[in-house]
Amino acid sequence: ELGDYRHFMLKEIFEQPQSVTGTLENRLAGDHVLPALLGVSDALERLAQVEEIQILACGTSYHAGLVGRYWIEANTDIPCNVEVASEYRYRRQPPRKNMLFVTISQSGETADTLAALEKIKENHGALATLTICNVAESSLTRESDMALMTMAGPEIGVASTKAFTTQLVALQLLMVLLMQAKGADKAKVAQMVADLRKLPALIEQVLDLNPKIETLAERFIEKNHALFLGRGELYPIAMEGALKLKEISYIHAEAYPAGELKHGPLALVDSEMPIVTVAPNTALLEKLKSNLEEVRSRGGELYVFADREAHIVAADNLHVLEMPHVPEMLAPIVYTIPLQLLSYHVAVLKGTDVDKPRNLAKSVTVE
Ligand code: F6R
Repeated sequence: ELGDYRHFMLKEIFEQPQSVTGTLENRLAGDHVLPALLGVSDALERLAQVEEIQILACGTSYHAGLVGRYWIEANTDIPCNVEVASEYRYRRQPPRKNMLFVTISQSGETADTLAALEKIKENHGALATLTICNVAESSLTRESDMALMTMAGPEIGVASTKAFTTQLVALQLLMVLLMQAKGADKAKVAQMVADLRKLPALIEQVLDLNPKIETLAERFIEKNHALFLGRGELYPIAMEGALKLKEISYIHAEAYPAGELKHGPLALVDSEMPIVTVAPNTALLEKLKSNLEEVRSRGGELYVFADREAHIVAADNLHVLEMPHVPEMLAPIVYTIPLQLLSYHVAVLKGTDVDKPRNLAKSVTVE
């Protein structure tokens, strides 16, 4: 099953153009998203009534939810909250009206996410429940009113990779459907659909950076700590990069929104601290660049994955890996790939059990 790959994780990283294609397949018409992908006949009518959204998930799937909030709130007038299921399930929430309740899960069996779904069904009378899930025959798909399946195929590596990027694609589809249901500008919808079609080819281009990232990884193996920075919808991608590094290479890593640096974490920065940053050419690029200068002037070693049009030039302590130019809305998906590869190669160089990191299970069916 592994073919030419040394680990399932690497195989699954390289499968992402296909898993993304599979998640888009039969779901896009010429200029819009087909509502049938939610598995019910009145999907648009249901979505039209939604006044707020609550997303619940754990771990990597939670990070996907965080990106989803940036996207949904940027493009619709629907407020969206995101919370880890293990917190949500044990606290009181005020009653809600016309809430769409969305769970995100690769396995569909995560105990806390399932319990949160049960709780909402018992207590709050959500307008509808929807799961974004990778396993058709799972508890979450069975227990939810609607299911948006990610078509990642089986994911064997414990560290989630292709499941995460297909969750992001599913959230894009959901966002566009919500726009359609709420009567958004048709040209804007058509542009988003056109951009989505570019995604598999963009991911292919980024996978070509693999040898360069492998070389870069050597610089991390002696490190005990790392910081990951991002802004806006790239902040959850920094969180995901930090989680990947932690779980498979056992290097302590933390993510910060770049604007928070001077409120504390800047004190950690010295020449021993690698700082990984994702810098697509978005509205926040200029702000991010000044955050990078704050780090450099304190001797921090910067590793920046940057849009080639961002004009971030390599210098002492500043390593730049050029990324293709991507539509702003797709940046979180495309910039996930180099961070997956980085943590993979650091783990291989350190000799950890990449596909089965210590203390972790693929599916967390107990609390
Ligand atoms: C990290 C990872 C975990 C899972 C989490 C939720 O790489 O795989 O953080 O994302 O345990 O699992 P699912 O998505 O199956 O609910």
